[in-house]
Amino acid sequence: MASLIRARIPQVDWSQGVDRHWNGGNAAVTHAFNALSLLFPQAEHFFITVARDVCSSRDLSHDPDLETVVRGFMAQESIHSHQHSQYNAVLRQQGFENVAHDFVLNLQAQAHRHFSPLTKLAVVCGYEHYTAILGNYILNHPRVLEPAQPDMALVWGWHSAEDTEHKAVCFDLYRAAGGGWLRRVLVFVSVTLNFTLMFGRNYCSLLRRDGCITPSRIVGTLAQSFQFFFGRSGIGWHLIGYGLRYLLPGFHPWDQDNRSQLDAWLSVNAARLLAVGS
Ligand SMILES: [Fe+2]
Ligand SMILES: [Fe+2]
Repeated sequence: MASLIRARIPQVDWSQGVDRHWNGGNAAVTHAFNALSLLFPQAEHFFITVARDVCSSRDLSHDPDLETVVRGFMAQESIHSHQHSQYNAVLRQQGFENVAHDFVLNLQAQAHRHFSPLTKLAVVCGYEHYTAILGNYILNHPRVLEPAQPDMALVWGWHSAEDTEHKAVCFDLYRAAGGGWLRRVLVFVSVTLNFTLMFGRNYCSLLRRDGCITPSRIVGTLAQSFQFFFGRSGIGWHLIGYGLRYLLPGFHPWDQDNRSQLDAWLSVNAARLLAVGS
């Protein structure tokens, strides 16, 4: 477990807007990131609510370190949500929208109605595993953001670093609250399906609204997209490979120790991050 989880604010002026194809002019890669951004504010609000509910319903006084890192996790996710809301406002100005919004709203309402706090926490652990995989991918493949506008490279690097820093917090909370393997993996299957659906809907919508799947552009779009997801070292292979590890009974997020990549990114970018404490 990371010993201290600090929240930071990336120094980005969203009022300046963002290039339509901010990642080196590559529409398919830009919209893959944008599709994720559209999902973050709703998801992170859910993560915070669930973590807070579990903390308040269990006696964790025997583990004050866990309470401290959960507070750090909530502070980080709260700032992520705020930053991505501003990012998404820029996308709306560009004519894009979050077409998965109502689907997510309904899923969350169903979860609050039918799931116990522990099962909802298993849902959060599943999503946190996927964001940890994405974060690890970005930290280990800096070339993905090399052609990006500097502010956007900062935002995605920062989010990747912090999602790596807190990747085990909800998992440790889940175990401390008595969560077991079977519930965790069953929930993970549904998280995987829902995440694929939500992301896919937004991704297709962004590409369609941007004119990327017209007859004259569809071949180029498919080529860019395939290269990003399933080319050599494509992100899709990492999602599948590291996703499957979550099914192992003895899995723990820090089995994959990427602290050195995390620390390296934070030290290189420290001047552009405002630390706000946890
Ligand atoms: Fe986040
Ligand atoms: Fe996270």
